[in-house]
Amino acid sequence: KSEDKQNRAAASLIVVSNRLPFVLKREEDGTLTRKASAGGLVTAVAPVVVDNHGIWVGWTGLDDFDEETEVIPESSPDDKAPTAGLRPDQAIPLSVNPKLFDEYYNGCCNETYWPLFHSMPDRAVFNRDHWKAYQDVNDIFAQKTLEAVRSVHEKRMAIPDCSRPDPPIVWIHDYHLMLAANAIRDGCNDEGLQVRMGFFLHIPFPSFDIIRIFPWVDEILMGMLGCDLVGFHIGDYCLNFLDCCQRCLGCRTDKNKMFVEHCGRRVMVRALPIGIPYHKFESLSRIAPRVFPSDMKIILGVDRLDYTKGLVARLKSLERMFKKYPKWIGKAIFIQVAVPSRVDVAEYKELKETIDRLVGHINGEFSTPSWSPIRYIFGSVNQDQLVAFYRDANVGLITPLRDGMNLVAKEFVACQSESDPGVLILSPFAGAGGLMQEALQVNPYETDNVADVVDRALEMSLDERKLRMNQLKKREKRMDVDAWVRSFLSGMDSLLVPSVRPNHD
Ligand code: ADP
Ligand code: F6P
Repeated sequence: KSEDKQNRAAASLIVVSNRLPFVLKREEDGTLTRKASAGGLVTAVAPVVVDNHGIWVGWTGLDDFDEETEVIPESSPDDKAPTAGLRPDQAIPLSVNPKLFDEYYNGCCNETYWPLFHSMPDRAVFNRDHWKAYQDVNDIFAQKTLEAVRSVHEKRMAIPDCSRPDPPIVWIHDYHLMLAANAIRDGCNDEGLQVRMGFFLHIPFPSFDIIRIFPWVDEILMGMLGCDLVGFHIGDYCLNFLDCCQRCLGCRTDKNKMFVEHCGRRVMVRALPIGIPYHKFESLSRIAPRVFPSDMKIILGVDRLDYTKGLVARLKSLERMFKKYPKWIGKAIFIQVAVPSRVDVAEYKELKETIDRLVGHINGEFSTPSWSPIRYIFGSVNQDQLVAFYRDANVGLITPLRDGMNLVAKEFVACQSESDPGVLILSPFAGAGGLMQEALQVNPYETDNVADVVDRALEMSLDERKLRMNQLKKREKRMDVDAWVRSFLSGMDSLLVPSVRPNHD
């Protein structure tokens, strides 16, 4: 019965995120085609929208998109991509003036919030014009979302009273849209449209001492509090948020019952650790063809090319590993797949150049005529290749300096065989670090520590590998992406029960 209720709730699910789950590309003949976007948000949320017949409001990835233009479906779609099955009418694309979008996305989101929320304030830029653009673009998203709410309500009104579904859920995602909720709420109130609103942050929420560096932090917090439920990956981020609401806004908060009171409303705060479509990864990994020779030990990294992922430190640790443990020369290789990301931001361009140089330097230092220590793929790989890489790797080396959760760690685990699994090495500075306790932990800042742990992983006995990996697999199977969505939807359903809606304790 409860599943039935969740299905009905999900049927009127409106997801709002900066990016649609695909980007549009203008072909030479002027037609527009779709291409799946990369990143944790799309991997997790796209299957949910597909399965629940939801609607997705977002940006197309095109500077000059005209909302009237027809979009041609991909000529050869990746039928294993998270977006497979998403109907064109499930996506509501919006257009934003290119200069405004640049100031909002490259400026405020990626040059300010991204480093700040990852506790790297020295990299953050503070600029009033970018902040203004952020406010304006959030308003554009809010207005577009209101259109979607109206259309859901029109369909809802056509259903007889007794079987009418619960009010639609608007689910806003990530740091790009922290201000959108109040405008949506106000619009709905003005038009008498009932709606439940949730927000989920896919990146860390930092401590008060970091967040207060942002000059307009109060507006951000009030924006998030426009929702009824605010979710984060782990408990630490929830506690940081509650602390900031109390210290910046003077709100009454309760760290046991996990809520914030603001403007006479009670906002639930929940740790909702995101998962992956575990079964999909597991079953794809059973059929994918082998990609590496079996006599070579493979150490694997898969990331967006981002300074938070710790790629430079990782390469230096590998250099140290080959120096300290020369027994691996000719016997092990490190494969790094790095998908280009945010290429218009200077920090990302510089990072690419640094990595190119470092890979060249390390390969020059250790290569033999028949072997090189590092194979570096700058680009995205398709799902079949990705699962084969995960499955055939002996070691998954996941060492972000800071990361909201890190789905790659989970995907690696799902693809491991039960009879001869590899070893996961994980940084404690990823949200996943505290949850995936059977992984080998490393401090990515300590080159020697990483070098030693990689050697240990490569030498680990089959019994220990099985013991660790089978526990990891069990947890990821249980806490998969469906479980994540179910816990979000049951949080939204609890809003329908009057006892959790009082304004006072
Ligand atoms: P983030 O959200 O910061 O990008 P996550 O690790 O949470 O980090 O999610 C990354 C997602 O993008 C994963 O689902 C992963 O499979 C996908 N991905 C990352 N790098 C690549 C790549 N080079 N090729 C294909 N997919 C990739
Ligand atoms: O996980 C954080 C995040 O910003 C997601 O919102 C997004 O899917 C991913 O990183 C990729 O970033 P972008 O959309 O800026 O390419």
